[in-house]
Amino acid sequence: MKIAIIGVGNVGRALGQAWATRGHEVVYGVRDPGAERHRALLEASPGASSALPAEAAAGVDVVVLATPWASTLDAARALGDLGGAVLVDATNPLVDGDVDPGVRSGGEAVAAAVTDARLVKAFNATGSANMADASYGATRPMLPLAGDDAAAKTLVAGLAAELGFDPVDCGGLAASRELEHLALTWIRLAYALGNGPGIAFALLRR
Ligand SMILES: NC(=O)c1ccc[n+]([C@@H]2O[C@H](COP(=O)([O-])OP(=O)(O)OC[C@H]3O[C@@H](n4cnc5c(N)ncnc54)[C@H](OP(=O)(O)O)[C@@H]3O)[C@@H](O)[C@H]2O)c1
Repeated sequence: MKIAIIGVGNVGRALGQAWATRGHEVVYGVRDPGAERHRALLEASPGASSALPAEAAAGVDVVVLATPWASTLDAARALGDLGGAVLVDATNPLVDGDVDPGVRSGGEAVAAAVTDARLVKAFNATGSANMADASYGATRPMLPLAGDDAAAKTLVAGLAAELGFDPVDCGGLAASRELEHLALTWIRLAYALGNGPGIAFALLRR
């Protein structure tokens, strides 16, 4: 699959390397393609390349948005027409450590900012270390996702499962709001309450 990753911080690097090493064709969308600072990431991502964000996102199957909230809506608008691609919104609308009161959810705000994309909220409610390595013994960490397009969710669930996650469909795009608050709980548990980033939610079933 051709996957564009917009933003190469903790999340973009972890997902890009994980999918590239599993044989996907990854292109990193960065503001300074060719810069020396991206060399190590490209070397660690078999077959990957880098390009300006709108160029990276053109003609791929999946675009992953992994930018800080302050620049996310501008970054989403700058992608241009996505031609029906699946857009994975991994961002969290955090302002001063809380959910941005100016949006109902980040997922819905991103969906309104992009053109012709099938948005799936995913990878926002777990840590980037889990994206790089999702192994927790016999239990797979849950990867909650939400969106209005069933086929897009199935595709993203498959990409999550490849990384070792248990993808869990949490409903339509409006459920992004809940997933973003779930992310706050993960962040609180990991950092404020001292559990560290080696933690993950799981869904038990019987
Ligand atoms: N960290 C986690 O464990 C985690 C987990 C789940 C979700 N999230 C969410 O995922 C998002 C990214 O988090 P992160 O920790 O990966 O952030 P980060 O390490 O700060 O990296 C952000 C990246 O976005 C790039 N960027 C910023 N504005 C951009 C723009 N307009 N166009 C293209 N690229 C742009 C930055 O590039 P420059 O270097 O050029 O500034 C940088 O590469 C956030 O919304 C966060 O809440 C984070």
